[in-house]
Amino acid sequence: MVREHAIAPEHLILPLFAISGSDTEQPIESLPGVCRQTPDLLARRAKAAWEAGVPAVLLFGIPDGKDAAATHAYADGGVVQTAIRAIKDAVPDLMVVTDVCLCAYTDHGHCGVIHDGKLDNDASIELIARTAGSHAAAGADIVAPSDMMDGRVGAIRAMLDAAGRQDTAIMSYAVKYASAYYGPFRDAAGSAPGAGDRKAYQMDPANRREALREVAQDLAEGADMVMVKPAVNYMDVIADVRAATQVPVVAYWVSGEWAMLKAAAERGWLDERDATMETLVALRRAGTDLVITYAAEDIAKWL
Ligand code: PBG
Ligand code: ZN
Repeated sequence: MVREHAIAPEHLILPLFAISGSDTEQPIESLPGVCRQTPDLLARRAKAAWEAGVPAVLLFGIPDGKDAAATHAYADGGVVQTAIRAIKDAVPDLMVVTDVCLCAYTDHGHCGVIHDGKLDNDASIELIARTAGSHAAAGADIVAPSDMMDGRVGAIRAMLDAAGRQDTAIMSYAVKYASAYYGPFRDAAGSAPGAGDRKAYQMDPANRREALREVAQDLAEGADMVMVKPAVNYMDVIADVRAATQVPVVAYWVSGEWAMLKAAAERGWLDERDATMETLVALRRAGTDLVITYAAEDIAKWL
């Protein structure tokens, strides 16, 4: 009766990994139970999640080829574009959110384009906006830029509006830290940088005030909701962002954070369900509206 916070299925977003082809899935060793899947199987998985009460999926692509200009990221027949169409066909009311980034599509594995050994911010945001536009054209409801370049939200908004897609929303990865907890994801997406790291564009885990500058900038450029990522180590930041804005706040309970819990549960060191629910309600208490989690379907079923 006096409980202050709760978690419900409608707060959950399920990440999915798309590959090309049909009737194929590849398990990801460091993310137990998560697979890369072809569009037909993704559509089935998305339908099961929807029927369990999960309102949205977040789509990532593993392309067939990589190059310096990330051309597969914005190809109309690309792996994400094809998967969007298959999912929207099978479950029209499910919200399809797409991760917009170049790192899985560039041969060097960075989130933008490299010129003279350095990441070129302004050349990158052009390709990022083009990628977002092609996701929207394929039927994405929400695009979620995760690259952390400056000015990309504005570039995406302008691109969408010029294409007559005023209704496509932007969920900005506004506060994304250069974290060690993305390890299993980079195995899944094949998106680890070949050389260097992402510290020039992602945030320093030591910084708290900077998060509010990132949020303010993205909101000024037209973001409809803002994300904090990772989640568990950054609950102070989630609380700050909640207090500073009126838009929905999204937390990404990332691959490494979830894999730790999962590994301990597999050894019998933690109760998986209790530990998962405690993390989720803690994120809600910190001020999160929506949680991106690999456990979304399990949680919805438990609820
Ligand atoms: C791409 C991207 C990453 C994640 C989401 N989008 C990895 C990264 O920035 O290296 C991480 C998700 C997770 O770990 O679950 N930029
Ligand atoms: Zn990236």
